[in-house]
Amino acid sequence: MRVLLIGGAGYIGSHVAIAMVEAGHDVVVVDDLSNSNAVAIARVRQITGRDVPLVIMDARNDDAVLAALAEEPPIDAIVLLAGLKSVAESVADPLRYYDVNIGAAISTLKVAAALSIRNVVFSSSATVYGSPADLPVNESSPTSLDLANPYGKTKRIIEEILADAAAADPTMKITILRYFNPVGAHTSALIGEDPQSAPTNLMPIVARAAAGTLPFVRVFGADYATPDGTGLRDYIDVNDLARGHVDAIIHAREGYEIFNLGTGIPVSVLEMISEFERAADRSIERRVEARRPGDVAVSVADPSKAEARWGWRAEKSIAESCRSYWAWQTANPAGYTSA
Ligand code: NAD
Ligand code: WQD
Repeated sequence: MRVLLIGGAGYIGSHVAIAMVEAGHDVVVVDDLSNSNAVAIARVRQITGRDVPLVIMDARNDDAVLAALAEEPPIDAIVLLAGLKSVAESVADPLRYYDVNIGAAISTLKVAAALSIRNVVFSSSATVYGSPADLPVNESSPTSLDLANPYGKTKRIIEEILADAAAADPTMKITILRYFNPVGAHTSALIGEDPQSAPTNLMPIVARAAAGTLPFVRVFGADYATPDGTGLRDYIDVNDLARGHVDAIIHAREGYEIFNLGTGIPVSVLEMISEFERAADRSIERRVEARRPGDVAVSVADPSKAEARWGWRAEKSIAESCRSYWAWQTANPAGYTSA
């Protein structure tokens, strides 16, 4: 298949590009590089030995995207990864989040319609489950628009828009992937997460504390009802996550379907720090602080639907993710600008 990755130069998209090419698919990337670097796609080409065209363009401009794709061979499937993803930033600047995330989704559907592309996969998030009543969370667990942050609401709203699009055209195959907490880097140490602003996610913060660019890790709450008192999350290696996208396009069925992509294994903040200490072979200072507003105690996937339907399951351990992240960061201390 020929697959269009919208937002494909980013952290997850660059790994999806590699997984797609390794599975025998052709890839074309549209990205405005607002939170990524063209070096990522150059490295995808280096790793795969294949041409991966990069169209630098705002995904909201569907006319321009269609004009750019007019030169390309026909596209069979689209993965929509483009969007803004900072929870805190979305609280401060909600309109920008609604504009970019929902705008990119609507434009993607227009591009799909204009090119008769029936297979669309969307990068959603476990954040749509809010504060789940039952754990682990399966795909029929209730979701909420009553989320604490506009970022999460954009994911929920886009899911609704895609469900409406699927209902209006029964030949559409729409797959929603709800990612849990993506971590790690490509094992080549050539591709990884390169946040353009200060990271807020745990692994990049722990990695920076290990490197000495942050003085310590702030542990947001050690008084949760969890075994060590810190928050539990389902950290999914980005390479496993990327493979899930290949399965999603291959096995897509007509209609609208949701899949959790997670490991099913809870890992605490303190366990993550310990694993990273082993990976980096050094101690990492941590200080317990108050809970971060909006955090849930536990978020863990029931990933059994993806296994039952696609034979997909996460394979990499948190230790492997810590090692690949550390190798990427050590080889690229300033991210892609080190190149
Ligand atoms: P990322 O920021 O690295 O990648 C997003 C890409 O989209 C970037 O390359 C960015 O330049 C591009 N982009 C943004 N706005 C665009 C626009 N208007 N037009 C074209 N390109 C645009 O983020 P990521 O971690 O790779 O996340 C990819 C997707 O997965 C996002 O939709 C994100 O919300 C979702 N997601 C991420 C996580 C996570 O923790 N990383 C968890 C759940 C869901
Ligand atoms: C993980 C755990 C924190 C930083 C977020 C988004 C979610 C999704 C993934 C996009 C929690 C603790 C963190 C720190 C800490 N993104 N922590 N000190 O909050 O589960 O999910 O990223 O869709 O939508 O909400 O991930 O990595 O921020 O936090 O103690 O400096 O680490 O309290 O328990 P989260 P996270």
